[in-house]
Amino acid sequence: MNPHLDKLQSYPFEKLRQLFAGSTPNPAFKPISLGMGEPKHPTPAFIRQALVDNLDGLACYPVTAGSEALRNAIASWLERRYGLPPLDRATQVLPVNGSREALFSFAQTVIAPDTGALVMCPNPFYQIYEGAAFLAGAEPYFVNSDPARNFAPDYDSVPEEVWQRVRLLFICSPGNPTGAVLTLTDWENLFALSERYNFIIAADECYSEIYHGAEPPLGAMQAAHILGLTRAGEPYARLVVFSSLSKRSNVPGMRSGFVAGDAQVLKQYLLYRTYHGSAMGPHVQAASVAAWDDETHVEENRAQYRAKFAAITPLIQEVLDVQMPDASFYLWADVSRTGLSDTEFARRLHAEYNVTVLPGSYLARDAHGSNPGRNRIRMALVAETGEGLEAARRIVQFCHQLNKP
Ligand SMILES: Cc1ncc(COP(=O)(O)O)c(C=O)c1O
Repeated sequence: MNPHLDKLQSYPFEKLRQLFAGSTPNPAFKPISLGMGEPKHPTPAFIRQALVDNLDGLACYPVTAGSEALRNAIASWLERRYGLPPLDRATQVLPVNGSREALFSFAQTVIAPDTGALVMCPNPFYQIYEGAAFLAGAEPYFVNSDPARNFAPDYDSVPEEVWQRVRLLFICSPGNPTGAVLTLTDWENLFALSERYNFIIAADECYSEIYHGAEPPLGAMQAAHILGLTRAGEPYARLVVFSSLSKRSNVPGMRSGFVAGDAQVLKQYLLYRTYHGSAMGPHVQAASVAAWDDETHVEENRAQYRAKFAAITPLIQEVLDVQMPDASFYLWADVSRTGLSDTEFARRLHAEYNVTVLPGSYLARDAHGSNPGRNRIRMALVAETGEGLEAARRIVQFCHQLNKP
């Protein structure tokens, strides 16, 4: 067996199952889950139709690089969304079966195993980064996010000898679970570090289309373009972005996303994927073209999230310290003022009010003397507004109950 498998932690939802084991949720309440970050808005009819209309494709093996139509749809979307100069469809974009498998397999491609390589991860973080690092034969190095700087990872705290061993850096903007978006200055700093220490940046942008302010979140390729890093001979050098239709278009089951950026790196990644056998089904490719080509359904989806956040956030703010995120569908709330730890908060809320939330400490690791998820909970506002409001009312009631002598 691969010895690195032993290093994998149980997934946060498994930890949650264990936390809830032995307590029966209050049967007076119907269960509501704000636990899993799974989109729940309906899949647009035209995407379903495009899947059905293209079932003839099942009779052929697809190529790993994807159809020209899909690569063109992805590149055109990137150009429109981020104001980028024309991208080379053949070398700068690649379809993937959702960003999760891509984040994982990308690490297997770019890390030389068992050479003492470090993979830098934000903390808290999307759990795949850590597993991808271990199975690539590297070690994760966690950089705690700083709530005082809109949860940006504190890269200034990283020692020189650590930077020298970093081969890959995962960054998530908009972040899961914080919803925070990196600024142009953050990117400038990261690009300079990547050049100085020669590591690859894997920028996870799967929440880019669910935002709450007037301006869409800045993307990594957009930042590189604005900073003039696309003019030289090697555009987007050492930068690869990961995006997905799952949240943007409410198709988490379709498994469709893309990677884009540094052509040299993507060439090697395509080679890896060819052997790994991860081509996208032709019907999924066709439906993905339809989805990337349309913005109307994305605007409607965003409007639904905005209405939901506007209704629910003020209620939660009555009892917990929480701010509107820049983007994403999560509230990342501090429960310190309730006097309960994040795990105890989640356990009792589930037992007494049948509402599931995720303890923040399950989404982070102990690093540099603290766990930055401790005393926080993540609430995924994915269900219908009515259900979310009902959950919020129960949370308010629960917190008021706690304050009673
Ligand atoms: C931060 C982050 N990245 C990537 C993914 C993977 O999404 P998908 O594989 O559906 O594209 C998720 C899913 O929840 C996520 O939260």
